[in-house]
Amino acid sequence: MKRVLSGIQPSGKMTLGNYIGAMKNFVELQDDHRCYFMVVDMHAVTVPQEPEDLREQTEMLVGLYLALGLNPDRASIFLQSHVPAHAELGWLMTTLAYMGELERMTQFKDKSRGKESIGAGLFVYPALMAADILLYNADLVPVGDDQKQHLELTRDLAHRFNQRYGETFRVPEVFTPEIGARIMSLDDASKKMSKSNPNPGSYIALLDPPDTIRKKVSRAVTDSGREVRFDTANKPEVSNLMSIYAQCSGLSLQEIEAKYEGQGYGTFKKELAEQIVSLLEPIQERYHEVRSSGAIHDVLKKGAGEAAEIANETLREVKQKMGFVLG
Ligand code: TYM
Repeated sequence: MKRVLSGIQPSGKMTLGNYIGAMKNFVELQDDHRCYFMVVDMHAVTVPQEPEDLREQTEMLVGLYLALGLNPDRASIFLQSHVPAHAELGWLMTTLAYMGELERMTQFKDKSRGKESIGAGLFVYPALMAADILLYNADLVPVGDDQKQHLELTRDLAHRFNQRYGETFRVPEVFTPEIGARIMSLDDASKKMSKSNPNPGSYIALLDPPDTIRKKVSRAVTDSGREVRFDTANKPEVSNLMSIYAQCSGLSLQEIEAKYEGQGYGTFKKELAEQIVSLLEPIQERYHEVRSSGAIHDVLKKGAGEAAEIANETLREVKQKMGFVLG
């Protein structure tokens, strides 16, 4: 069985972008792959976090994983900080990475732009991400478009290690959805939909109540035309809404074009909102059940145990090859 690994930062609200770009694929891959899905709390602290918020957001994200349908009997669900091998291999990967390649990372450039002091953790962030993936010898890494560059670096580091110390790591492949690998902001189709956008109208949070979703969709920016047609160059806003529609409904882009031919944006947006609501409402119900059941801690304990077994084995092999005296 092919191995799959991915992670999400517990920083703020999860959006429809996170779901379409990554989480939806987590759920689909768990049936016929050996899956490891983490909450990357150690990555989250590369920018300042309020301790109480971090704890709450971490539990919230695990709750969402379960509510979306990730099954702890099929996939290992765990916190990055519960498996110390991540920090340890993260350090070793840092020693293998070059300043120049870390400086080229667009996520680093975006997050550090205009800041007077930039945390060192933010800079070496991709080395920890490489460790996350390589510890499990993952074949596939389901992520959105914005993580492709980090995946490329992970592949380079894996090759570099294998060349220097002998064949050790499997070189992972990125796995992005065909439609919606980059969901854009509802108020500006040149920016990706992001939980860190200060305007909540720019994103749909997975836990937004139905009426909020309806309001946000009705206010989403469109062009001044009325043709529901997929054309990212000339109609980026409508194309983005169509991607969301396709991923929520299961219809193809062509089917959506045919369905709304000659109808203008009003009906399309109204029905898009209903598609999103009927996707998210049952997830929200399950989420509240999961959070009140207290099941999260058992799931995390089981997941961390399963993950540590593989991770510790890889780490031991790496340390042996690098010349550490094993304890
Ligand atoms: P993070 O927490 O920023 O985002 C989680 C996942 O959601 C995807 N995503 C999107 N996809 C489509 N459209 C959007 N607007 C959108 N916004 C977010 C991201 O691509 C990502 O897949 N570095 C990672 C976390 C990480 C990781 C890993 C991922 C740490 N270690 C190992 C995979 C494997 C991050 O910051 O994702």
